[in-house]
Amino acid sequence: MWVENVIIEDLDEIYNLEKYTFNKDAFSKEILRSLIIRNTLFLKITDDQKRIIGFAIALQDSIDSVNIINFLIDERFQGQGYGSVLLDFTLDKIKKIAHIKRIILNVNTKNVTAQKLYRKFNFKITEKVENYYRHKENAYLMELEI
Ligand SMILES: CC(C)(COP(=O)(O)OP(=O)(O)OC[C@H]1O[C@@H](n2cnc3c(N)ncnc32)[C@H](O)[C@@H]1OP(=O)(O)O)[C@@H](O)C(=O)NCCC(=O)NCCS
Repeated sequence: MWVENVIIEDLDEIYNLEKYTFNKDAFSKEILRSLIIRNTLFLKITDDQKRIIGFAIALQDSIDSVNIINFLIDERFQGQGYGSVLLDFTLDKIKKIAHIKRIILNVNTKNVTAQKLYRKFNFKITEKVENYYRHKENAYLMELEI
């Protein structure tokens, strides 16, 4: 198992995983491509055969805040600790960026598993955002002060 930066050659594998996991809410291939090219914090976790089993995307959205805009582990590998490893690594990377005081993310109010993962890393729910998703589902804004 390994965590490293996503490169453009990973695009198809990343997109397939994104599409499979989030269906209609998936980021488009073009958006994913531009996020890789723009040198966003875009990390993958791979297995021993270098297959991508999950990834995290984080964007600095203000001088002191980073937003984790996408985070997933391949369904076949969930519940085995990979999400925790990837999140731990992602948070460490973000904490090294100068001036960052806050890490934020949005999570579907129904996605209890993801909320548990984020709570484990001390994220707190600070707001409920109505109709956050395209199909009118609600999100929690979760924040971690660092
Ligand atoms: C949310 C997600 C990233 C978690 O990844 P994971 O590799 O399964 O997470 P881990 O195995 O490290 O487990 C982390 C915590 O989540 C919770 N959890 C994991 N699997 C769970 C399950 N099946 N049921 C209930 N809680 C679960 C546990 O609290 C666990 O911590 P613990 O094992 O120390 O108690 C993964 O389920 C996923 O990709 N889901 C689909 C996409 C998604 O929802 N992304 C988040 C969008 S905001």
